[in-house]
Amino acid sequence: MRKPFIAGNWKMNMSRAEAEEFAAKLKELYKDTEVKTAICAPFVHLERLAEAFKGTGIGVGAQNCHFEDSGAFTGEISVPMLEEIGIDYCIIGHSERREYNNETDETCNKKLKRLFASSILPILCVGETLEQRDAGREKEVVAAQVKADLDGLSAENVSKLTIAYEPIWAIGTGRTASPEQAEEMCKAIRDIIADMYDDGVACEVTIQYGGSMKPANATELMNMEDIDGGLIGGASLKAEDFIQIIDF
Ligand code: 13P
Repeated sequence: MRKPFIAGNWKMNMSRAEAEEFAAKLKELYKDTEVKTAICAPFVHLERLAEAFKGTGIGVGAQNCHFEDSGAFTGEISVPMLEEIGIDYCIIGHSERREYNNETDETCNKKLKRLFASSILPILCVGETLEQRDAGREKEVVAAQVKADLDGLSAENVSKLTIAYEPIWAIGTGRTASPEQAEEMCKAIRDIIADMYDDGVACEVTIQYGGSMKPANATELMNMEDIDGGLIGGASLKAEDFIQIIDF
């Protein structure tokens, strides 16, 4: 059975002092539950967060990685470097990286393959723009992303994958997808996985919703059958808000 998985994505936020304060507060509020939890933080905070959360059940994730292990890639961070400091997860293909950092389905695919050869589990982000939704193309767009990003990945790997459905029009806008809209897309993603692999893999893959998810709407989103978790931006910056989502 799939366990609920609530992950925070701090994006490019939090000073070192704020990160430390957050970690102390979350540890104080957090009770070990059936809900998997992680914080995906800027690279500079990862090692300290991994130390702070050791033994608590709270995981730590990066927000990107490179697909090569080492070499002339100025400014990049490799998967072995993340493994060395005890990182559990890595976000791949966030729409902000697709838009501003030239992330493509091809680079996402290479990064997923590299991560699955490591101890770090990927959280793959997919989602459509408002223009694509208004044109009725949301399912086609997301299906193309999923197919290209997972190309060549084994069933065993995909059963351990988390896919975050993040409609771009709902990110940081306060405009959440309705539970029905989010469910429709998460179910569509599960159906694509069933087509590409089989029902067993589709049943095991974890599918999160992301986009203005917060304490006030977490319960109704999490109650939907195919929504297994959330990838939380703004509401993951305050431990008091984030814990309420974990406790949905
Ligand atoms: P918000 O929760 O701030 O809308 O961000 C969602 C997101 O992009 C998480 O990756």
